[in-house]
Amino acid sequence: MAKKITVIGTGYVGLISAVGLADFGHTVIGVDIAQTVVDKLNNGQPHIFETGLRDYLQKNLNSGRLKFSTGIADAVQASEVVFISVGTPPNQDGSADLSQLMRVVEEIKQNISGYKVVVIKSTVPVGTNRTVFKLFKTNGCDVDVVSNPEFLREGKAIQDFFHPDRIILGVESERARAVMEDIYRSLYLIQTPCVWCNLETAELIKYCSNAFLANKITFINQMANLADAVGADIHDIAKAMGMDGRISSKFLHPGPGFGGSCFPKDIKALVTMGEKHDVDMSLVREVIHANEAQKQLMIKKLALMLGELKDKTIAVLGLAFKAETDDVRESPAITIVTGLLKEGCRISAHDPVAMQNFSRLFPDLKFCRDEYEALQKADALIICTEWNEYRNLDLEKAKLTMKGNIILDTRNLLNRERARELGFTYKGMGR
Ligand code: UDX
Repeated sequence: MAKKITVIGTGYVGLISAVGLADFGHTVIGVDIAQTVVDKLNNGQPHIFETGLRDYLQKNLNSGRLKFSTGIADAVQASEVVFISVGTPPNQDGSADLSQLMRVVEEIKQNISGYKVVVIKSTVPVGTNRTVFKLFKTNGCDVDVVSNPEFLREGKAIQDFFHPDRIILGVESERARAVMEDIYRSLYLIQTPCVWCNLETAELIKYCSNAFLANKITFINQMANLADAVGADIHDIAKAMGMDGRISSKFLHPGPGFGGSCFPKDIKALVTMGEKHDVDMSLVREVIHANEAQKQLMIKKLALMLGELKDKTIAVLGLAFKAETDDVRESPAITIVTGLLKEGCRISAHDPVAMQNFSRLFPDLKFCRDEYEALQKADALIICTEWNEYRNLDLEKAKLTMKGNIILDTRNLLNRERARELGFTYKGMGR
């Protein structure tokens, strides 16, 4: 049966969920504190860049099942189910900052009438769902709390919402389970596996999945560095490793280090959780160090290729933490640009969609119209993000445009044989 749902927080996870749940046939109010965001969304303009989102947003606004509001009280009162998807950014010590979540819980508590299911989608430390449940219960609220962590990838969020590998549902009452079955009926019908478990298990599944993937990337990055040192080819190695079904070929692409809004934050939170419970998290802690070292290594590699960084002009292609997104949070390009500027380099930067966000961090950087403008008179080129348009860079034109002949391709995008034929000194990752 279709439900009346409120989704609180219209960031990446909340907005995609609101649009997706409306598409499943539910009536959804997306709530955000920012009036400008709400106005834009009601006009069909997403405030984030996400492939396919604009169309789905418009389609569901047109259906009348989706709207956005700043009025949390009215939305909660009108809904049977309340999803919470507010941010849980890291505190100074790496633990998750739950202040936004707790403020929302407080507001929900004040507007409860009758039975409601509160679904926490935000990534929260283990134990948070139960704490929230107890808070509702001690206030006499007739509420069930469900932990339903989200695994959306930026850039593929719409596709991931409609075709997830699995749905994780930390549910501890039959009544709430029946509600969640209704909510995800559309995915049930396409046989998406559901994992029903207790609250703590659901919370930890999210952290374990992200930490494992962060581990896998860090592993292949270090092996790529070793392959470089011994003259092996990491692509062949990753391909052969991936043929082992126990390993799988995904997430074995070496690069300048992982970034984004999830992995860096979640692994830090996992380490703090381990410390709190006196459990050894040394493996995850090492991933944090190794990933930082990987980003720094890109600067060292470039310095080795150029001999001296001071006064060199560097074209930086790719500022987003990965392709298909304008998100620059924890992007390796931030570390690389910071390091290069510190060494006295001049930078010409380009990204197909992330320049605006990057310019908030580096307002004085030279941002270029296209990749060739960035290459003008450059001594070296460093590619930081795996945008498709960079794969097809016209190397002959690049050779004519650049002053120098150095290419550091941290995503292994370019045709290295062709680059070398044209006289470039080319280095990739582990090849
Ligand atoms: C991730 C998880 O995949 C998602 O399930 C979770 O809910 C949120 O965090 P996202 O941050 O959007 O999603 O990006 P993802 O595609 O996982 O990439 C993360 C980072 O790892 C990027 O910086 C990417 O460039 C890097 N990466 C990924 C690699 O360097 N090599 C790889 O093989 C894969």
